[in-house]
Amino acid sequence: MNKKPNVAIVGATGMVGHAFLKVLEERNFPVKDIRLLASGRSKGKKIKFCGNDFKVEELVKGSFKDIDIALFSAGAAISKEFAPLAVKAGAVVVDNSSAFRMDPGVPLVVPEVNPKAIQRHKGIIANPNCSTIQMVVVLKPLHDAARIKRIVVSSYQSASGWGKEAVDQLWAETEQIIKSRIQHPGSSIKVDGVKKVLPAQIAFNVIPQIDVFLPNRYTKEEMKMVNETRKIMEDDSIKITATCVRVGVFISHAEAVNIETEKKLTPEEATEILRHSAGVEVIDDISKEKYPLPIDAAGKDASFVGRIRADESVENGLNLWIVSDNLRKGAALNAVQIAELLIK
Ligand SMILES: NC(=O)c1ccc[n+]([C@@H]2O[C@H](COP(=O)([O-])OP(=O)(O)OC[C@H]3O[C@@H](n4cnc5c(N)ncnc54)[C@H](OP(=O)(O)O)[C@@H]3O)[C@@H](O)[C@H]2O)c1
Repeated sequence: MNKKPNVAIVGATGMVGHAFLKVLEERNFPVKDIRLLASGRSKGKKIKFCGNDFKVEELVKGSFKDIDIALFSAGAAISKEFAPLAVKAGAVVVDNSSAFRMDPGVPLVVPEVNPKAIQRHKGIIANPNCSTIQMVVVLKPLHDAARIKRIVVSSYQSASGWGKEAVDQLWAETEQIIKSRIQHPGSSIKVDGVKKVLPAQIAFNVIPQIDVFLPNRYTKEEMKMVNETRKIMEDDSIKITATCVRVGVFISHAEAVNIETEKKLTPEEATEILRHSAGVEVIDDISKEKYPLPIDAAGKDASFVGRIRADESVENGLNLWIVSDNLRKGAALNAVQIAELLIK
């Protein structure tokens, strides 16, 4: 791999696309040249990167000539169609969508957890789902110390996790409610001219559905957490169940995570392990009412963890509260860390 690669960003105008540019810039990623790709709707738009204006190009079959690394974040359908073309043109693809994550031939990588998996790539490396990434960064060191037997996770996920249209929906509904001062008991509000992309009103609300329902009555997001966690932790024996919930928050996902371990781990031992774990930051001082919050995690890189306490209903159990910026560690940062491993 070229030490100073030509980089393409597919979905450069989206929430994750913007985060990609910010993270590449902040980390001084050695970009030789950058190509910003999006739909025909964005063709010609100017976006700043490292002080210079770059014009957005429409994604077409020939977009990947001379590209070394292609960072994809424009949805699974686009990845399925264009990632193989990028690979054929000689690029390595780091894909943010769900298109290839469970493909046995495609590594699913979180650099703090399974960096070696990258070596098995045949052109495509998958970036896991945002809610999975922040959880496994915290759980892997505990798994290594005490072997996790079972995980029960409930997520509280922000609107930006569903892209810019969901953020627009949250803004518009919030403005309308504040303007009218109506709490709309019993009925959702409708905002003219704004596409409702989430299944219900998200402002001042909580929706127990992320993505579509599957035949087993779970949502696709919940099953992503189950299947991706096992693949990344390289342990199919871990039992996992998830409930994924959308909340009226702009950025950062939060998760209440309960684990049962084979070996006993006290909250103090777990805290000590996590204080020394890469990508993890412990914020856990209940005497000062300090714990991770989505508003504090937004714009930051770590998986923040707090409220570490024993699950007193079982012999070897812990409860944790994990929060991270879904656009950064949950998407762009993790992908850029993978790209850094590629050029190392
Ligand atoms: N948001 C998150 O927290 C998160 C986390 C992990 C993974 N992801 C994944 O990242 C992807 C994008 O998410 P996002 O939040 O950035 O969504 P978004 O804000 O809605 O942006 C979507 C991007 O895809 C582009 N796009 C749409 N249709 C296209 C087409 N036909 N050809 C080329 N480009 C097209 C859009 O370009 P236009 O502006 O031209 O329409 C835009 O740049 C999804 O696969 C999502 O699952 C998101």
